[in-house]
Amino acid sequence: MKKTVIDFLLLDNKQLNKDNFQLTLQSPLPVSDIFPGQFINVEIKEATEIFLRRPFSILDVDYEKQTIALLVKILGRGSKKLTEARPGQTISAIFPLGKSFTLPDQNDRVLLIGGGSGVAPMLFLSKICGLKPENVTVLIGARSASDHIDVTAYQSYGQFYYTTEDGSLGEKGYVTNHPVFTEKLNQYTKIYTCGPDLMMKAIGRKAIDTNIFCEVSLENMMACGFGVCLCCVEDTKTGHKCVCTDGPVFNVNDLKW
Ligand SMILES: Cc1cc2nc3c(=O)[nH]c(=O)nc-3n(C[C@H](O)[C@H](O)[C@H](O)COP(=O)(O)OP(=O)(O)OC[C@H]3O[C@@H](n4cnc5c(N)ncnc54)[C@H](O)[C@@H]3O)c2cc1C
Ligand code: FES
Repeated sequence: MKKTVIDFLLLDNKQLNKDNFQLTLQSPLPVSDIFPGQFINVEIKEATEIFLRRPFSILDVDYEKQTIALLVKILGRGSKKLTEARPGQTISAIFPLGKSFTLPDQNDRVLLIGGGSGVAPMLFLSKICGLKPENVTVLIGARSASDHIDVTAYQSYGQFYYTTEDGSLGEKGYVTNHPVFTEKLNQYTKIYTCGPDLMMKAIGRKAIDTNIFCEVSLENMMACGFGVCLCCVEDTKTGHKCVCTDGPVFNVNDLKW
């Protein structure tokens, strides 16, 4: 699908917990070739002081109904305004943007690690990666149990594990403290991750050390979202790359990590 400015119709805006909302958007165009890792750059119409669009990963796609879902965590003014949008409202966005994760092969055993709102592309990937659930492990980290979102809708696609910094759900600590990561990493042929920079760097470096294929979805600050403003640039082993067009998904071996 060619990237274009689309007026989506907001069908549903559901609060998942204190700071996280799930928005379901009706697309006027088919969304048949949208994949995990791709994102949308949303205009915040109601706030005239916010002139830059805000990027959000695709959480899910219903190819038949032509809908996409976003997971929006309130961070600042733009994301807050977006969570206040009401069904029936039009949401303008540039879509689809960025390159997706490389889908695994049939014989792969994959570990998907999501931190914070980085869980969004991981859930989408668990759903469409095409592997048997026993070959898909999803490890999700958050500060506290109340910061985790309900992932029941995805649980049939893999085995799910959780960490919290305060120990209120799953293993206490970071995703990199979980036994899946500390003891069982050699069981996986591919690692995919999205989340805070420090988390992805720790995962990426371990993948490099242990020679496991690993792709990360970077969340550098963005403005245009399509390679013009250069504000999202990442210094890679092959020069400066725009995260919005060359990424956001990169193989860790291409990054200066
Ligand atoms: C490719 C991509 C995919 C993303 N996917 C999601 C998603 O699925 N769900 C989600 O909730 N968020 C996602 N984000 C982050 C989201 O874009 C920011 O949270 C949002 O732009 C913040 O806008 P704001 O107006 O609310 O905050 P602002 O008022 O602009 O900023 C508030 C604070 O957030 C920080 N901030 C702003 N932008 C980012 C950013 N890109 N990364 C980290 N911190 C930032 C600022 O430094 C500031 O401290 C994604 C970002 C990228 C680049
Ligand atoms: S956001 Fe403008 S070039 Fe990437």
